[in-house]
Amino acid sequence: MKYDVTVIGSGPGGYVAAIRCAQLGFKTAIIERYSTLGGTCLNVGCIPSKALLDSSEHYHNATHRFTEHGIDVTGVKVNMKQMIKRKNEVVDQTCKGVDYLMKKNKITVYHGHGSFAGANTISIAKNDGSTETIETDKTIIATGSKPIAPASFNYDKKRVITSTEALNIDKVPKSMTIIGAGVIGLELGSVYARLGTKVDVIEYADKALATMDKDVSKELTRSMKKLGVKFHFKYMVKEVKGTARKTKLVAEHRDSKETLTIDADYCLIAIGRYAYTDKLGLETVGIKTDDRGRIEVDEHLQTNVPGVYAIGDVIKGAMLAHKAEEEGVFVAETLAGQKPHIHYHLIPGVVYTWPEVAAVGYTEQELKDKGTPIKIGKFPFKALGRARASMDTEGMVKVISHKETDEVLGVHMVGPRVADIIAEAVTAMEFRASAEDIARMSHAHPTYTEAVKEAALAATDNRALHV
Ligand code: FAD
Ligand code: NAI
Repeated sequence: MKYDVTVIGSGPGGYVAAIRCAQLGFKTAIIERYSTLGGTCLNVGCIPSKALLDSSEHYHNATHRFTEHGIDVTGVKVNMKQMIKRKNEVVDQTCKGVDYLMKKNKITVYHGHGSFAGANTISIAKNDGSTETIETDKTIIATGSKPIAPASFNYDKKRVITSTEALNIDKVPKSMTIIGAGVIGLELGSVYARLGTKVDVIEYADKALATMDKDVSKELTRSMKKLGVKFHFKYMVKEVKGTARKTKLVAEHRDSKETLTIDADYCLIAIGRYAYTDKLGLETVGIKTDDRGRIEVDEHLQTNVPGVYAIGDVIKGAMLAHKAEEEGVFVAETLAGQKPHIHYHLIPGVVYTWPEVAAVGYTEQELKDKGTPIKIGKFPFKALGRARASMDTEGMVKVISHKETDEVLGVHMVGPRVADIIAEAVTAMEFRASAEDIARMSHAHPTYTEAVKEAALAATDNRALHV
């Protein structure tokens, strides 16, 4: 068979690239080594984690907040098997949705491990042991990433686990240590803390979500502590050992060198992910990777081999599903001779804890380091009628704008539904709005979005109305 475009990997980068290629008239194939399409995101990432975050939040609300709302419930308990079953159903439906989209767009799907036999020849090793070879004019590598698990952590997939296994525990653990206070550590830490697990988070940096704005990190850490999560900052985990039922973690304080030892039912490794290019045959065609194993690409996302492109987690940049999707569309449109553009700087980051975290643009520290003159406006959710009505008063919105032009340069939020609200900030920044532009737009009352208007008012000239 001969295709115009072949996509290797069916995550949000790969399947979206395939759809856009097909829409643009290319004869397209997609290769996926697993039996289901959708990649990390749909199978063991975004979707299942959000399903468990929602379920655990319902339980937490029922046990901690219903009474105050005037709803007395007794006998509430977790049915973990059902929680996992529902999560699996959500994953299944979502993956089947991708099957449907492939059929609808007449994209040929191959299940098997793809590798380069030549720059225009892809070999597919199928699960039944057979091999099929296809010819292709262009190739898009979208092979994603896998969790980092150093040898000294003794990752056994049973007690010493990564996010993949943490999404399938069928009994609420009594205790869990989590290595890394990044996005996975905090999201899955929230799931288990809400279900009643004693959660200890060990983090090398001096704060959680170390790359995000410092106010965001502070607010969220406070909320997570209230949930019962215990943080151990500035500790470097040295070793983890798992037995049939327990784990033992040993960490060292990065300054004092003091040793911390914690025993727990499970130890979750959440220290980042590496670009996955195993047995892809990159060396066969001479595709270059960087010092972190990520495929090197130019400004068109083309590798050093003409006609071979790469997108998503396997290249540099944020490891986010929506970043991978944008890149998939970008490459398809580039192949069609269009001139697409991605504002990487305006790709939002979201953490689905409760309160949620969402941010776009520069942090206060980044702007200070660049020497940019800035104004900052903040507004706390506790001053908002809507937030009081739902008892979601934790968090704030922070708008940072340029001191002279008033252009919005960064928006950082912790609070209810900010994962959705951040879209307003992205839109405003795509159109290069000033803080005053946002402040003068009508925001429906009572909504959580009023916090954005108020923070923008505060940034404009310190004239928030409700604080
Ligand atoms: P992937 O989704 O990793 O897909 C790559 C696919 O390629 C896989 O299916 C793999 O099997 C296949 N493959 C690899 N090599 C080959 C080969 N040689 N032949 C054939 N197939 C191959 N991001 C968000 O934006 N929002 C979230 O809420 C979010 N939550 C997450 C939660 C968790 C627990 C995790 C682990 C990640 C989460 N992410 C989230 C990150 C997100 O999942 C990734 O950024 C995204 O999946 C990257 O997409 P991708 O297409 O580059 O690669
Ligand atoms: P991360 O990069 O977000 O956080 C890893 C943390 O581990 C860092 O804070 C780091 O300092 C710490 N760390 C590393 N080694 C350590 C050690 N030995 N001891 C103690 N601490 C150590 O990585 P994470 O959470 O694994 O997530 C991986 C990727 O998945 C992220 O890049 C993220 O973009 C993506 N993701 C996105 C989600 C979302 O968009 N909501 C949800 C989950 C994952």
